Amino acid sequence: MRKKIVAGNWKMNLSLEEALSLQDEINKTYSNENCEVILFSPSIYLTELKKNETKITIGAQNAFPKDSGAFTGEISIAQLKNIGIHHLLIGHSERRSLFHEENELLKEKVTVALEKGFQIIFCVGEELEDREKGTYKDLILNQLKDSLFHISTDDLKNVVIAYEPVWAIGTGKTASSDQANEVHAFIREAIEEKYGKLSAAETRILYGGSCKPENAEELFEQPNIDGGLIGGASLKANDFLSIINAAK
Ligand code: PGA
Repeated sequence: MRKKIVAGNWKMNLSLEEALSLQDEINKTYSNENCEVILFSPSIYLTELKKNETKITIGAQNAFPKDSGAFTGEISIAQLKNIGIHHLLIGHSERRSLFHEENELLKEKVTVALEKGFQIIFCVGEELEDREKGTYKDLILNQLKDSLFHISTDDLKNVVIAYEPVWAIGTGKTASSDQANEVHAFIREAIEEKYGKLSAAETRILYGGSCKPENAEELFEQPNIDGGLIGGASLKANDFLSIINAAK
């Protein structure tokens, strides 16, 4: 039985006061024992949010795989670990497209984060063009093969995959539950082929891309969808809490 996860990706939003008060509201109201909750905050707030970490885990949206050195402006996975962070998003489409993060760099991030005992959410997903051309499955398989499938079966236990079709992120356009479930099933098959039945059955695969209170329940009911990675709707406590409650 895979426990559901609802994770908020705050992206580059919120003031410190807003972040703390959002965390506080979610901490106070969260009561769904069937669902793990993670908040991926801007790095600058992690230390403060960490002080109020309850059952809701605080994670980072990005980090650099070298431990230290001349990498101006970067934060290392080792530094995150040093302040008590153990959850990391890797390969979000905004990192891939806006910051040109290639599969090779993402592979290194995956390796280092797992070595340091992190739980990672590894994001995959196609652009609209790939969907229209019908090449989306090949693309997703390559994202998995190039940056994730080098890890061991044991390490896979600390990996959650997020399927986020880029055309659905922040656009208000959600993949239908059938479209999403089809890709989730495909990802699960790819895991089975590489790591076997048990690993495939245990790995959690989240959906992301305009997931909101109105569509969360239908998405989360799909057999291969194990929760969501939520952008816009994670910035409002009520919306985010309804999405958490949709995870049965
Ligand atoms: P969205 O973002 O929910 O605003 O579409 C999801 C994400 O980018 O993780």
